[in-house]
Amino acid sequence: MRILVTGCEGMLGRAVMSRLGVTQQLSGVDLADGDLSDGSVVARLVAEHAPAWVVHCAAWTDVDGAETNRAAALAANAEATGHLARACARTGAGLTLISTDYVFNGRAGAGYVEDEAREPVNYYGLTKARAEEHVARLKTPWQIVRTSWLFGDGKVNFVKTMRRLLGERDTLRVVADQTGCPTYAADLAAVLDYLVSGRHEGVFHATNAGATTWCELAREVARQLGADPARIVPCPSSEYPTPAVRPANSVLLSHNLEAVGCPDRPAWPDAVARYLSRLETGRVDCP
Ligand SMILES: NC(=O)c1ccc[n+]([C@@H]2O[C@H](COP(=O)([O-])OP(=O)(O)OC[C@H]3O[C@@H](n4cnc5c(N)ncnc54)[C@H](OP(=O)(O)O)[C@@H]3O)[C@@H](O)[C@H]2O)c1
Repeated sequence: MRILVTGCEGMLGRAVMSRLGVTQQLSGVDLADGDLSDGSVVARLVAEHAPAWVVHCAAWTDVDGAETNRAAALAANAEATGHLARACARTGAGLTLISTDYVFNGRAGAGYVEDEAREPVNYYGLTKARAEEHVARLKTPWQIVRTSWLFGDGKVNFVKTMRRLLGERDTLRVVADQTGCPTYAADLAAVLDYLVSGRHEGVFHATNAGATTWCELAREVARQLGADPARIVPCPSSEYPTPAVRPANSVLLSHNLEAVGCPDRPAWPDAVARYLSRLETGRVDCP
């Protein structure tokens, strides 16, 4: 199947290119190839690449920056997805939108099932919720794959930052009142391979197995690096005020993945171990 990956230089896009490239005929585009918030650019890229399926990883991912750059964030996330959805509707191509736990309000007790109502608490979440609406209206095959707390090759991420800070400071204060599901980009790419190859349709939640807090995630990084996890000191989010409010509990429950027979995802500490080992052996190309 001819697949076009948007955001192919991003953290997830890289993992998708390397995983799906083994089984599919892939091409990738990123911002240097054109701004997807421009409909004529999207029409040109889809005509050039003639994909049977589009995996749409490109997005405005600066959650705090979205609060102050609302028009640009909306254009990059919602409008770009609208252009892609219309292009796919015209050509009959399938479309996978990568979305986020931040479409939810964070007040769910046990976590969010796939058909829970969207109620974003920050502007980034709102732009992704609008993007989802464009995709869910399609008559052609579509997937919305929500994920959370991504780490992997490419840009700075929480796991890599904790590893660096543990080398620089004696103690670190890390928020302990936000709960979510860490996700290794390489493991998410394996799920996407399964979903796209099988042309499974609908809304899916794809993360590593298990949930935790940022503080516990940092402690696990410390543990795995042989550092004392007690050097990570829990603190409330109120200690680190950010422009964007974060949902307190955004655990994603993956019932629909189970229903389509997707193999179990590895537990998040296992994913952290594989990623850290990749960092330790210098097999990662970006700082
Ligand atoms: N990171 C997370 O923790 C997280 C959590 C939940 C969901 N997600 C979702 O997962 C997906 C992948 O995230 P990621 O962390 O891999 O993102 P990323 O590393 O920021 O990559 C996104 C890529 O899209 C490109 N891009 C941005 N705006 C564009 C535009 N208007 N036209 C064309 N390309 C554009 C970016 O280019 P530049 O870098 O040059 O701007 C970048 O290469 C996104 O849909 C995101 O919303 C991420």
